[in-house]
Amino acid sequence: MRLIKLIEQLPKTELHLHIEGTLEPELMWALAGKHGVDLPYDSVEAIKAAYQFDNLQSFLDLYYQGADVLRDEEDFYLLMRDYLQRCKADNVVHTEIMFDPQTHTERGIGFAVFMPGFQRAIDEAKAEFGISVYLIMSFLRHLPESAAIETLNQARDYYPLIKAVGLDSSEQGNPPEKFIKVFTAARALGFKCVAHAGEEGPPAYIWQALDLLKIDRIDHGVRADEDEALLKRLSDSGMALTVCPQSNIKLCVFDNMAQHNILDLLERGLCVTVNSDDPSYFGGYLNDNYKALMTHLAMTESALVQLVKNSFVGSFLPAEEKNNWL
Ligand code: ADE
Ligand code: ZN
Repeated sequence: MRLIKLIEQLPKTELHLHIEGTLEPELMWALAGKHGVDLPYDSVEAIKAAYQFDNLQSFLDLYYQGADVLRDEEDFYLLMRDYLQRCKADNVVHTEIMFDPQTHTERGIGFAVFMPGFQRAIDEAKAEFGISVYLIMSFLRHLPESAAIETLNQARDYYPLIKAVGLDSSEQGNPPEKFIKVFTAARALGFKCVAHAGEEGPPAYIWQALDLLKIDRIDHGVRADEDEALLKRLSDSGMALTVCPQSNIKLCVFDNMAQHNILDLLERGLCVTVNSDDPSYFGGYLNDNYKALMTHLAMTESALVQLVKNSFVGSFLPAEEKNNWL
């Protein structure tokens, strides 16, 4: 009981969250009706029942299909508003949110549609409950690097609203080395850099993300445990890993939560953090992910406190602000 209360009451950050992955079936259904989008489901329950995945790709197919209902500024506003309300409920005081521009620009929906929608919801949430929000613009790695460079250029008017760039989508066969030019350009523009690596892909992809993309934080990274030298590099450098426990179970990265390695990585001295990734698709927002570690991994109070501290340490908040929370 005490641990549940602590999970709920501790101020936390979330560092790995795809806004498109917060699209709840009810909102998907309503927006499909609004825009006359033909979904391959006949009810909200049928959408929920379809969320059974064998791997990352089987999830991504439904995730991109679902995002097709997001068409106008109001849709993106509602999406962001609903997630930020979940943050308030979970006592998330700072969140670093990924968005996938190419999921929308490929459908003819431009930055001038989704960015104002996101920003309106963020401004309201800041004013209403004081949450702090950074945006991370993620490139889709199944597309060519030239498309990522075009996206970086298209975002120009919105650079002041964006803190970092990221790399997501289908990992296997799309190594970080494919994106050296765009990450070099983004870094020169002053953006922080993150990349999904070692979710399904091998430890070699984590090395590439570190050495070739020069990332500031790793998304997932759980396969680092297959490489002792990499574990040492990560612990020596204090590199943060944004781990997403429920995502990893839903996408079959681990067979079940009792097998998850997050607490082993914590014990090895890595700066691991807890995050929800795509909570609408994976069955839980941030506090649910912490509670799953309590239930299935017997997380202790000191491990919980360290994970929550890591969520601030691994954030891109300025040092003074981090220190206020630590
Ligand atoms: N896009 C949304 N969620 C993702 C994940 N878990 N891995 C890669 N790309 C994603
Ligand atoms: Zn992710």
